[in-house]
Amino acid sequence: MSEPDLDLAPVAEDSAVGVPVIDIGELRDGHRDPSLASVRAIAEACSEWGFFQVVNHGIEPPVIEDMWAQTRSFFTWPREEKEALMRTRENPWGYYNNELTKNQRDKKEVFDFTSDGRDPVYAAENRWPEGRDDFQWAMRAYRDACAELSLMLLEAMCSGLGLAPTFLNEHFTPTHTGFNRLNFYPVHDPMTGRADIEHLEVADLGVHHHTDAGALTVLLQDDVGGLQVFKDGNWYDVESTPGAFVINTGDMMQVWSNDRYRAAIHRVLAMDETDRYSIPFFYNPDAGTEVRPLPSVVTADAPALYEPVNWSDFRYKRTDGDYADYGTEVQISQYRKE
Ligand code: OGA
Ligand code: NI
Repeated sequence: MSEPDLDLAPVAEDSAVGVPVIDIGELRDGHRDPSLASVRAIAEACSEWGFFQVVNHGIEPPVIEDMWAQTRSFFTWPREEKEALMRTRENPWGYYNNELTKNQRDKKEVFDFTSDGRDPVYAAENRWPEGRDDFQWAMRAYRDACAELSLMLLEAMCSGLGLAPTFLNEHFTPTHTGFNRLNFYPVHDPMTGRADIEHLEVADLGVHHHTDAGALTVLLQDDVGGLQVFKDGNWYDVESTPGAFVINTGDMMQVWSNDRYRAAIHRVLAMDETDRYSIPFFYNPDAGTEVRPLPSVVTADAPALYEPVNWSDFRYKRTDGDYADYGTEVQISQYRKE
């Protein structure tokens, strides 16, 4: 593939331009009308940036504080305890410190978990640490709060496309395949000095540039900074806003909206002074969902730009690419019609 190296593009100098911060209090009151300020702001942000931040989102501060405390604590646990939760090619849930994005290794450690029970994409269950009940309860409470917030945002996004707000709900509730990730971006490469496991040497970014695969992502970041979004040839910092969640649209939303909403390309710089933590929740549809451009966005003048995408199939191929170098990672551009 001869894709230009986006990571060499400049960082924008105009700090007055940035990802919008949107108050979603009116959504919490149950409103979804397309003329609402928050619905319009979300639709506009999804088209322009594929990124925005939300405040007044309704997730209770204790749920968030508990989540931060347990996340920070997790990465201080003994290496053996974390590595006992190591993910495998068959079961992607658990700990990992050798992740690839677009076949390049990222400088980070992660822990992934999903809904309870057997997940329908991998037929696999979460790997929870033994005897760490507080950890597990914090993760679950936070996960469920993220799913609720995500559904509200999904409804606003549908409304912004001229659809009934609940148009896509059948693909998400109750059988969404969303999952959480705890991200730890250490100053020191976790692979340094490890001769006992196979790894690639490259780790010059926290996460190499990518789009998220699913519908939308709800992310909590600490105040260190380093997350950047690509827009019109430049990288923009996604500033840390106290109390806010960072939201971005993923590949499936780009297909559903027939490119009206964009799956923004983003990355995380490698940390060279301060360790960084972030906690995304990737909101993904039901395993059986066939994602294709929605009726309100396909017209005689705007024909469907994509072939239907089977979600499980896409997700499965993407995870395989993250885990190790099993060939080129699947990208949504491969589903674009000529
Ligand atoms: C991701 C991601 C951003 C961040 O995990 O997909 O883009 O700020 N994370 O950690
Ligand atoms: Ni991402």
